Amino acid sequence: MHPFQGGRKTLFNMKGGGRKNGNLYVFAVVFSVFVFGCFMYNEDVKSIAEFPISAHKSGEPEPEIQETTATLPVPENVTKVPAGDDLPDSSRSLSSVTEIGHRRTDEETEGEKIELPAGDQEQGREDGDDDERKQDGEEEEVEEEESIELPPESCDLYTGEWVFDNGTHPLYKEAECEFLTAQVTCMRNGRRDSMYQNWRWQPRDCSLPKFKPKLLLEKLRNKRLMFVGDSLNRNQWESMVCLVQSVAPPGRKSLNKTGSLSVFRIEDYNATVEFYWAPFLVESNSDDPTMHSILNRIIMPKSIKKHGKNWKNVDYLIFNTYIWWMNTFTMKVLRGSFDEGATEYDEVERPVAYRRVLSTWSKWVDKNVDPNRTQVFFMSMSPLHIKSLDWENPNGIKCAKEITPILNTSMPLNVGTDYRLFSIASNITGTMKKPVHFINITKLSEYRKDAHTSVHTIRQGKMLTPEQQADPNTYADCIHWCLPGLPDTWNEFLYSHIISRS
Ligand SMILES: *[C@@H]1O[C@H](CO)[C@@H](O)[C@H](O)[C@H]1NC(C)=O
Ligand SMILES: *[C@@H]1O[C@H](CO)[C@@H](O)[C@H](O)[C@H]1NC(C)=O
Ligand SMILES: *[C@@H]1O[C@H](CO)[C@@H](O)[C@H](O)[C@H]1NC(C)=O
Ligand SMILES: *[C@@H]1O[C@H](CO)[C@@H](O)[C@H](O)[C@H]1NC(C)=O
Ligand SMILES: *[C@@H]1O[C@H](CO)[C@@H](O)[C@H](O)[C@H]1NC(C)=O
Ligand SMILES: *[C@@H]1O[C@H](CO)[C@@H](O)[C@H](O)[C@H]1NC(C)=O
Ligand SMILES: *[C@@H]1O[C@H](CO)[C@@H](O)[C@H](O)[C@H]1NC(C)=O
Repeated sequence: MHPFQGGRKTLFNMKGGGRKNGNLYVFAVVFSVFVFGCFMYNEDVKSIAEFPISAHKSGEPEPEIQETTATLPVPENVTKVPAGDDLPDSSRSLSSVTEIGHRRTDEETEGEKIELPAGDQEQGREDGDDDERKQDGEEEEVEEEESIELPPESCDLYTGEWVFDNGTHPLYKEAECEFLTAQVTCMRNGRRDSMYQNWRWQPRDCSLPKFKPKLLLEKLRNKRLMFVGDSLNRNQWESMVCLVQSVAPPGRKSLNKTGSLSVFRIEDYNATVEFYWAPFLVESNSDDPTMHSILNRIIMPKSIKKHGKNWKNVDYLIFNTYIWWMNTFTMKVLRGSFDEGATEYDEVERPVAYRRVLSTWSKWVDKNVDPNRTQVFFMSMSPLHIKSLDWENPNGIKCAKEITPILNTSMPLNVGTDYRLFSIASNITGTMKKPVHFINITKLSEYRKDAHTSVHTIRQGKMLTPEQQADPNTYADCIHWCLPGLPDTWNEFLYSHIISRS
């Protein structure tokens, strides 16, 4: 039985008795979190735990809860400093990124060609044009002409294979994106192998359109794009920021992290790429953007307005919710409202609670989204790689020793993804009044056991020590992904949908 798929009780589930002693229990938890919080602030740690996951083989002792963290270099403020200033100098000197050419061979693909409105004539097929920084601050915009092969709408982008292609990937370099946080800069954090950056997703029946940051930014001109969800969606947001930021000259871009909302802005396009923290989409006791290390998670499945008001008037909305569901087999559902001081809850089976939440979310979308203005996306589950026997590597330690993807796609693969939640999300997004693109990244990401941050990351705001790095069994993060890396491909799917709409 896979750790995520059984009926076994886990650490935080051992109360078992649902609402029994609810008051006292919740009080105790709230109080401990408060104390923990004070401690954390005293330690001057800016942001903490993301999602303790309790995943382990049956019969083994419960592992210490792992808290993976993100550092916000200067929360509550605009940052224009390189991320990584919080790193010790020693880890900085480890920075080494392979030089990757921008050149790419244009494959002949089936598909439409779109001609973009053009001001001046530049031969768009030559990639050099990406590097010409045009400073077009005036109303009469000068745009480059490009032609891009769009995949046919009928093409299934998600069935295909990973191909090694160091000519086109990575799409940007780690050292050239100052906005990456220390959580994801694996090379700077000491990772030696870099092949994980070089894989391109090749759909079986068509090709993904070549990534052109300016083309995307034209779509985003005077618009807002927002990721809403948990730290995996934040991972993808960081990727998207890096994918577009190279186009803007220094001083014409900024990052403002305020409360639950982080806004990356490119002045010359009046465009924003934003991230909104809401790990369950609905209201929960884990909604504090920094102090959300709450082990006893309680949700309000019908309550979405408080978050939802921040999603209105956004032009591209990208939702996810998954990882926070995974540390217990049941979800605690509040009876009443946090605002009214309610503390009693019911324990509800994970898929049942998940369906309730997505049903609330879908009603919000159906009611509030104007499809003429806003495109909505739902990212499917980002998988974990915590048991190397799942891919038949008896010498592995979680994901820590993996340097290549799983390339044999005929091998049956089960890394413990909860496909019940996948089906619910897929079905609900497919039957809504308003169109939602279900971005089916789960299976193709399951092949990427090589792409996690593993021990080349931070924990509770601090870089792992060499001793911790030497103990991947305890410290490897096999949930989040290095950047550049896999989330760039997820964004290539978004890009394909966004530029395909006329
Ligand atoms: C950052 O955003 C917040 C909220 O919108 C705003 O109040 C604040 O002025 C912004 N900070 C800067 C420096 O722009
Ligand atoms: C790409 O990989 C090949 C084979 O490993 C290597 O020979 C070549 O130098 C690499 N090219 C770049 C640009 O890294
Ligand atoms: C998702 O993609 C995988 C291949 O990557 C495919 O096998 C599966 O059927 C797809 N599921 C849905 C609901 O699109
Ligand atoms: C800038 O973008 C915002 C949306 O983010 C939009 O409301 C506003 O009208 C834009 N400004 C101009 C001058 O177009
Ligand atoms: C979207 O635009 C079309 C054509 O302009 C219009 O007929 C339709 O009513 C609009 N839909 C909404 C929900 O505004
Ligand atoms: C791929 O996996 C299948 C099923 O496990 C196996 O039969 C086949 O030999 C493998 N192919 C390669 C090239 O290893
Ligand atoms: C919809 O849900 C059913 C089970 O309720 C599942 O068998 C089916 O695969 C789901 N459909 C999709 C498209 O995910």
